[in-house]
Amino acid sequence: PTEHTLAVIKPDYTQELRDSIINRIKEAGFSISQVTEKKLTRDMAEEFYKDHVGKYFYNHLVDYMSRGPSVMMILSKENAITEWREMMGPTDPEQAKQGSPNCLRAQFAKSILENVVHGSSNVQHAMDNIMLIFGDIPKQTLLKKE
Ligand code: CMP
Repeated sequence: PTEHTLAVIKPDYTQELRDSIINRIKEAGFSISQVTEKKLTRDMAEEFYKDHVGKYFYNHLVDYMSRGPSVMMILSKENAITEWREMMGPTDPEQAKQGSPNCLRAQFAKSILENVVHGSSNVQHAMDNIMLIFGDIPKQTLLKKE
């Protein structure tokens, strides 16, 4: 069955980086079901990362995610959640460079905070992330029988 995940290219990307990430997503066989470029408000960034409330990096994370536009995409494919997380690589780019030098974070992340991309971690988070960013529009699209 087709699975859906939310993929985010985080703020401060160049147009060149954005295009090259999108090309890699397509080459890997994902369908990009929805895409929008938008700047999260602080409230939305707080909601998006509510599971991290209280962590030492939480305020920095909310600042980072609300300081400029992000590219928000719904990626659809069999095993989309796991496969997109494999393309991103580990949260920490230093760890990524050791174990998976071809992943996006090994190649483009500036730091563990400014790590270029986000992907939902499981089916529930994917639904929550997608609803928060795209609201009701894709609900019909995604729940449609294929
Ligand atoms: P992401 O996969 O989007 O999910 C949570 C984000 O918090 C993560 O990417 C990083 O941007 C950030 N993050 C996670 N761990 C740390 C950390 N130890 N220090 C700073 N930022 C972090």
